[in-house]
This record gives sequence, structure tokens and C-alpha cells, in this order.
Amino acid sequence: MIDIHCHILPEVDDGAKSWDIAVKMCRMAAADGIEHIVATPHANDRYNYDRRFLARKLDQLRCAEAAPSLSLGSDFHLSYENVQDALIRPEYYSIDGSQYLLVELSNFGIPAQVEATFSQMVDLGIIPIITHPERNPILQQTPTRVLRWVEIGCVVQLTASALTGAWGERVSNAAEWLMKREAVHVLATDAHDLERRKPVLSDAREEVAAVYGDDIADALVQHNPGAILAAQALPYFPDPVVGR
Ligand SMILES: [Fe+2]
Repeated sequence: MIDIHCHILPEVDDGAKSWDIAVKMCRMAAADGIEHIVATPHANDRYNYDRRFLARKLDQLRCAEAAPSLSLGSDFHLSYENVQDALIRPEYYSIDGSQYLLVELSNFGIPAQVEATFSQMVDLGIIPIITHPERNPILQQTPTRVLRWVEIGCVVQLTASALTGAWGERVSNAAEWLMKREAVHVLATDAHDLERRKPVLSDAREEVAAVYGDDIADALVQHNPGAILAAQALPYFPDPVVGR
């Protein structure tokens, strides 16, 4: 399996608090069957994103731990300043310099023009990956917006632990709503530590396999994230089921 969203780099954001925890997170992920992790430090008002500095940290973690393999992306907050910068140099923030960019929306307000921003990105060859819409209180109320974004070309990433109930019923219901409409393309851990937000994908993969079958489960944790790493089109990207 491949995890495209993980706060594993130590001492840079609210993820791994120390090198020891980062190394243990690598081991926990490897034991779970995760072969590759994209380290995705926050790029927001609270945490400055310095790609060269972060790449050096990633190299140090690579030296410390042989598996899983690692690459760099960002957990990109969709602020005005961030968007302006990403339109000029998307590779600074994207997953391994590819066209795929993890995008996190505010829990407190999603402006109407976000759809135009996504369209602008897609037109420029940048593919937004909407991170954990199931955990966003605004999108829980207006989930059809997510379907429209998929129709534009956005990719949707759910938190693995949202499907196993770790975030409560409201979040798991929102996750199921999107799963039923075939509007989910990737599961990722969004791990921050070794306890509450662990780097584990297998439980959610089993959950998806039991309800939707092995083919979709494998697409969400292996084939689609693999295509993202390879900067290719997603093999599983159906038209979302609308009108239900
Ligand atoms: Fe995150």
C-alpha cells in the first residue's frame, strides 16, 4: 500500500514530535504493509513551508530507516497567498514535483469561488487532491459540492480512520456518503503520531473490501496512489453518482 498524506517529518509541524517517533511511525507503517509514504508537512499560516529544508529532513529520515520508501509533498492550505504561489510554481508544493497537489479546505469557511480556483488549477495542469472532505463540517452539510469538484477533475482523499469510526458517526456517515457515490479515489492515513492518528491503512482497506469489493479497495490504497506517485492519470476515476 501507498500512503500519500502523512505528517511523519519530525519537529516541523504538529506531526511527529521527535526523530524517535518518526522512526517508530515508519516501522508501524511498514508492519501494516505500507511500502511508500509521502511526507506532507503543513503549508499554512501556522507552519512555514521551506521545501529545501524539508527535503533535507526527509533525506535524514531515509538514512535512519530503510522502509518504507519516502517522498515529499505538502498539506496545502487553500489560502489566497498559497494559491497565488502554487499557480506560479506548483512543483514546490506538489507530491514529488508531480501535477498532484494535496489541498486542505478551512473548517470555518469555503468561499464560492473555490470552484473557480480548482478549475484554474486543472486548466494549468495541476490536479487538486481534496483532503478529508468527510471531516469538514461545512462539506458535511453540503457534500454535493465535492461531487462537482470531482466532475471538474479533482481527486478526493478520505482519512482511512474515518471509515473505521475513529472520528465518530458524523464523519463516518459523510465518508460513506461519498463512497456510495463513487466519489472517493484515495485513502490516506493523515497520521500525526503513534497513538491517536497512526500510520495504518489496512483496517480501512478491509472495511472497503468488505462493502465495495477488493478491486475498489486496492484502487484506493494501491493503484490510484501508485499512479499519483508516478505522475500518471488515475486508473480508478469514475464519474460520480449524482442525483441520489
Ligand atoms: Fe494532514
